[in-house]
Amino acid sequence: MSRTRNFFDHLHVSQVRSRVLHPLTSLGLGIASLTCLATLFVTGFTLFLYYVPDQAQAYERILHISTTLRFGRLIRNLHYLSANGLLILAFLHMSRIFFMGSYKRRYLNWVYGLTLLVLILFANFTGYLLPWDQISYWAIKVGASLAGYFPLLGETLQTFLLGGQDVGPETLARSFALHAGILPFLLLVFTSLHLWRIRKDGGLALPEAADEERIPTIPWLYRSEAAVAMLTLATLIALALLIDAPIFERADPAHPPNPAKAPWYFVGFQELVSYSAVIGGILMPLFWAAFLLLAPRLDRSRSCGGRWFAKDRWHWNLAFALLLISQLVLIYIGLYLRGPNWQLVLPF
Ligand code: HEM
Repeated sequence: MSRTRNFFDHLHVSQVRSRVLHPLTSLGLGIASLTCLATLFVTGFTLFLYYVPDQAQAYERILHISTTLRFGRLIRNLHYLSANGLLILAFLHMSRIFFMGSYKRRYLNWVYGLTLLVLILFANFTGYLLPWDQISYWAIKVGASLAGYFPLLGETLQTFLLGGQDVGPETLARSFALHAGILPFLLLVFTSLHLWRIRKDGGLALPEAADEERIPTIPWLYRSEAAVAMLTLATLIALALLIDAPIFERADPAHPPNPAKAPWYFVGFQELVSYSAVIGGILMPLFWAAFLLLAPRLDRSRSCGGRWFAKDRWHWNLAFALLLISQLVLIYIGLYLRGPNWQLVLPF
């Protein structure tokens, strides 16, 4: 007797190659990102019920959530950790796709992925200001000034983010509208397009193999996806019990911390801007964007994608690895080796 088709029959193709289930094929990074995104939506909705995007109340509301509300601290910690976790995991997921050349014949989905990455960065950035404490206030001020360097659109982008010339009540209202309304909606739309496109492309990119076994998606693929999701969730909960989302003293526009640093994911650009505004604020972001958008188009190697570090793509992988390492080094210097007046200091 044939089984009734359900929702899960439409998410994936009905059979997958056995290699899809091998942990080294995808490293589970897409599903782990999806789990962080789901956690963000659930915890974000709860925070939404208690938060007020008003300069006079925002800070006290966050204190209330973290100190007096039942499970408030856990929920806030989970939100904070899954937001940062999503950014890191999505970056790792993109790196695995690059190092495997899996963007080949999947360019549209690569572009959907890049859009997701930009949306995730924006969602993190707009959420950063909401506690309205000293670190978030000044980090957003520095971050928005970095956005001002962006070629052609810089000033418009800065005014759009700030809702004026400086960080103020309008910035808080705007950040909240973007963070809790517009960006989650766009994330939902682009994640759906991304998942739909994986299905349309016939599943993951893998090199052809004549005698490879095929296995039914239900239950095998879903079981392994559920295992990755549960492991991610368990890790998030364990970390949320150990690590508290930061909250410092209330924002004081008259007293900047020295040094004032951008959020960690933009501190690499801040570090570069301290050497040269043109390189850090204009050339480097443009280079990243052009590289990520054009590499799949210019990559003429013969391997069809889905193989780790294929020999005929070594120069692409080397270029990407160098970009990644340089960005990580800059972030490290900006975060740990910069003290008052942006002078170099020892990390301990
Ligand atoms: C919210 C963020 C994201 C989520 C939830 C997500 C989810 C997924 C999932 C579940 C898969 C299936 C394979 C796997 O688990 O690795 C996948 C594949 C894919 N993703 Fe993402 N992704 C995200 C961000 C990105 C980014 C930033 C990029 C690249 C710029 C990207 C590009 C791709 C491509 C090209 C595939 C197909 C890979 C293949 O055929 O092997 N994704 N994604």
